[in-house]
Amino acid sequence: MTVAPQRPAVPGQVGTAHTRVEGRDKVTGAARYGGDIPFAGLAHGMLVLSTVARGRIRSVDTGAVLAMPGVLTVLHHGNAPRLTSDYVGMLGVPPDPTAVVFQHDRVPHAGWPVALVVAETPEQARAAADVLTVRYEEEPHDVALSADRPDAYAADGHMPGTTEKGDLEAELAASAHVVDAEYTTPEEHHAMMEPHVATAWWDGGRLDVVDSDQGITWVADELARMFSLDASAVRVRSEHVGGGFGSKGVRPPQVAAAMAAAELGRPVRVSLTRRQMFSVTGYRSPTVQRVRLGAEPDGRLRALEHTSLNQTSTVYEFVEPGAGVARTMYDAVAHRTENRVVRLDVPSPTWMRAPGEAPGSFALECALDELAEKCGVDPIELRLRNEPETGPVSGLPFAGRNVAACFREGARRFGWDARDPRPGVRRDGRWLVGTGTAAASFPAGTLPSTAAVTAEPDGTFTVRISASDIGTGARTALTLIAADALRVPSERIDVRLGDSDFGPSGIAAGSMGTRSWGWAVAAAAEELRERLVPGGELPPEGITVRSDTTAAIAALAAKERHTWGAQFAEVAVDVTTGEVRVRRMLGVFAAGRIVNPLTARNQLVGGMTWGISMALHEEAVRDPASGALYGADLAGYHVATHADVPPEVEAVWVDDHDPDDPVGIKGIGEVGIVGAAAAVANAVWHATGVRHRGLPIRPDRVL
Ligand code: MOS
Repeated sequence: MTVAPQRPAVPGQVGTAHTRVEGRDKVTGAARYGGDIPFAGLAHGMLVLSTVARGRIRSVDTGAVLAMPGVLTVLHHGNAPRLTSDYVGMLGVPPDPTAVVFQHDRVPHAGWPVALVVAETPEQARAAADVLTVRYEEEPHDVALSADRPDAYAADGHMPGTTEKGDLEAELAASAHVVDAEYTTPEEHHAMMEPHVATAWWDGGRLDVVDSDQGITWVADELARMFSLDASAVRVRSEHVGGGFGSKGVRPPQVAAAMAAAELGRPVRVSLTRRQMFSVTGYRSPTVQRVRLGAEPDGRLRALEHTSLNQTSTVYEFVEPGAGVARTMYDAVAHRTENRVVRLDVPSPTWMRAPGEAPGSFALECALDELAEKCGVDPIELRLRNEPETGPVSGLPFAGRNVAACFREGARRFGWDARDPRPGVRRDGRWLVGTGTAAASFPAGTLPSTAAVTAEPDGTFTVRISASDIGTGARTALTLIAADALRVPSERIDVRLGDSDFGPSGIAAGSMGTRSWGWAVAAAAEELRERLVPGGELPPEGITVRSDTTAAIAALAAKERHTWGAQFAEVAVDVTTGEVRVRRMLGVFAAGRIVNPLTARNQLVGGMTWGISMALHEEAVRDPASGALYGADLAGYHVATHADVPPEVEAVWVDDHDPDDPVGIKGIGEVGIVGAAAAVANAVWHATGVRHRGLPIRPDRVL
């Protein structure tokens, strides 16, 4: 079938506020999350993680724990089944060996999974896991990230490692104003409410998994490859997910549970503790970034260089592409960007909300603010003077670029025009007050998806798609999209998701979920509507139409496609304690057609709130001696709380839609955090006159 792109449809339910269709189930406890679902004969597995940061496992002494009450088995590298790991998965990358558990005796970092203890109850499993004796041959480890590591190298990841045009040194030398600064961001963790959990069982040669993931097809595909199964022999379900942020793909719980279930011939559940999440589910790497800008007297860029270094593990190359954002945001006569990595004896980092853009925009947008100061040009005006016509690196046209509209609307709402540009001159009692701004962008991508829509004999419609609603409101958005495509009230739509048996679909990540699934749902629903004869009889099984967007989305590659934004922050800095309080924050976004203003605002404000947290609080600190984190829990890792966030965090949007998307959607998953920390840091400079180039901006660093 073909999917004809069309302008936003006649006024319908898309674009109007709807509370979550599953909201009542969630607040009354009726919604069951991965770890809540009961199974007859369920056994419980607890992972055992390495206590050394590098070395070999000499022995796993299982005898004592096997004699403990309820203990059923202990899996480790000496007895676990061999898995396949030499493949490239649907996201175009090989599996992180952290998830391919118990395959060898090497320990590449502290907190590496070395065994699984399975018992009748979670308490018995935990008690036994706590006392399992694992002996190691320890080797010296190295966990120190620094800008001058000789073993750092340029790396591609999802984009080319290096881009380069023009003579950078010549343009810098010819520039009237130059900024050359290093910015650092710390290790940060996803810290979503619901820990990773998976229950697995085998029915003949078929593997069934109930978990908490942000990519049903992704997880099912990887499990099939690891266990050498036909894709149709794996079923993954994930009905409700308590947050993901990039870390909920294939992780040790699914794989270890499947191994143990095969051995015991009964369902096995593996839940991670909060502490375990800090070493086996990925994190955002710390970054060391350098930005060099050279400009004409009026602020127009002649030279732009952005390099970003991140750490990765010795077993997996993960690139946090901090320099990528400069490839989209600003052009210059000479333009150079590079993402670099260094391999350390640390856990593998992974995607975390706005991977690349979140730390990258902190460095780049703070550097722009520094340049504005040097040029004596307003920070918004400086950005408007540097708006590129086409993709600075790709050379492709933009499918709409509404950065200027976001800044203009934001300036009006925030009262920017009344701003005195001088730093450190506004006082409110013991507080110094300042405002700051930053631009935001995130790619608007799409992944192939399939969906099925059924017209039921009772006049309702059932949508089936293997999407994950990770708390974003995707289920509700798809309900509205289906309702409009069918021209019926949303009450007549029942969206079922989170089941790989519904067919392949894209992931709830990369800001691509609602857009990719919405396209497939709209396509199937439109065709179904055309097929239905008014007043016609339906067969008992209804009429079902399936869609597949693989061919339709291919045309999108001809343009650079992004969601855009402008962030504004006002802060107050306590001159005696160094405490920074964000007083208000405004984000204005050009985010395509907004499907549900209620959940969209929620998602954007969530991202901005995380930006406050990133700017002022979050920091995981690695102990060089043990190679492990200090305080790897939610007491030691400080996420912004209600007391840290003002009520005046507001997200709004300008008119925008993607002309090539059937619904006009671009995606809003990640852009909320982009630029948010930079806006706060720029406001701290405006308040105090001091630049803070390392996050978080802690009180002891402010003083
Ligand atoms: Mo997002 S980091 O793609 O879940």
